[in-house]
Amino acid sequence: MVSQSQSQSQASVPGHVCIIMDGNGRWAKKRLMPRSYGHRKGVETTRRAVDFFARAGVAHLTLFAFSSENWNRPAEEVSSLMELFMQSLRQYTAELHEQQIRIRFIGERSLFSEDLQRQIQQAESETGANRNMVLNIAANYGGQWDLVNASRRLAQQVRDGAIDPADIDQRLFAAHLSLGDSPDPDLFIRTGGEQRVSNFLLWQLAYTEFYFCETLWPDFSEADMAAALAEYNRRQRRYGKTGEQIEVAG
Ligand code: FPP
Repeated sequence: MVSQSQSQSQASVPGHVCIIMDGNGRWAKKRLMPRSYGHRKGVETTRRAVDFFARAGVAHLTLFAFSSENWNRPAEEVSSLMELFMQSLRQYTAELHEQQIRIRFIGERSLFSEDLQRQIQQAESETGANRNMVLNIAANYGGQWDLVNASRRLAQQVRDGAIDPADIDQRLFAAHLSLGDSPDPDLFIRTGGEQRVSNFLLWQLAYTEFYFCETLWPDFSEADMAAALAEYNRRQRRYGKTGEQIEVAG
C-alpha cells in the first residue's frame, strides 16, 4: 500500500522504516574478534534503534535479521545467530511489551528449532495487542520467497474457485505478502557500505527512499539514525508525478 498523498515538502516522520543491519562481521574482524562478537554488539545497536525510531514516532520498523541465504554461512555462525535470537527474545520481550511495541516475525519459521519457534510465538502473542509501534523481524526471510508464497496462495484460491484470475490486481497481490496489512516502507536504510537490496522486501520497496551509509551496524549511533531521518526529509517523493505537480498539491 502506498500513501500517495505524502509529500516531503515539510518535515515528516516516515511511517515505516526498514533496515538492513550490515557490517557486524567486519566490525568484529577489525577488532580481531569472532563474527559472533560483532552480532552480539549488533543486537545492542538494534535495541537502541528500536527505542530511537519508536521515540521518533515511526509506526512500523522492519529489520532484516536473517535472510534465507544466510543459512549458507558457516554452521558455527548460523548456530550462534540462532542462539542470539533466543537470548534477545528472552531478554527484551518484556521491556518491548512495556513500551507497547508489537513484535512480529516474517519469514519461513519452520526451519527454526522448536524452541525458537515457541519463543517467537510467545513474543508475538504476548505483544500482539500493542499499538505504539510494530516491530517486524525478518528472519529466514527473502523477498522472492514472499512473492512466490503470495502467488501460491492466490493460485490455490483460484483453484478452489474462491477468486477469478481477473480479480488479481496489485492491491490483492500485495495483501497476500507477509506485510500485507502494513504500509510500504517510506525509508530503507542499509549500513555497512554495500548498496544493494539483498532480496529484502522486493515488492514493497517500489517507491521507498534509499539511504546507504558506510557505518558498520554496531557503530550506527543515534546521531546516524537522526541523519538518516534528516536526509529522508530532504527527499521529494513524486510517485511518478513531476516535481511541479507535487509542489502545487503542497
Ligand atoms: C549482517 O552483518 C548482519 C546479520 C546477518 C545479522 C543481523 C543480526 C543482528 C544485528 C542481530 C539482530 C537481532 C535481533 C534479535 C533482531 P554481516 O554479518 O553480514 O556483516 P559483514 O557484512 O561485515 O560480514
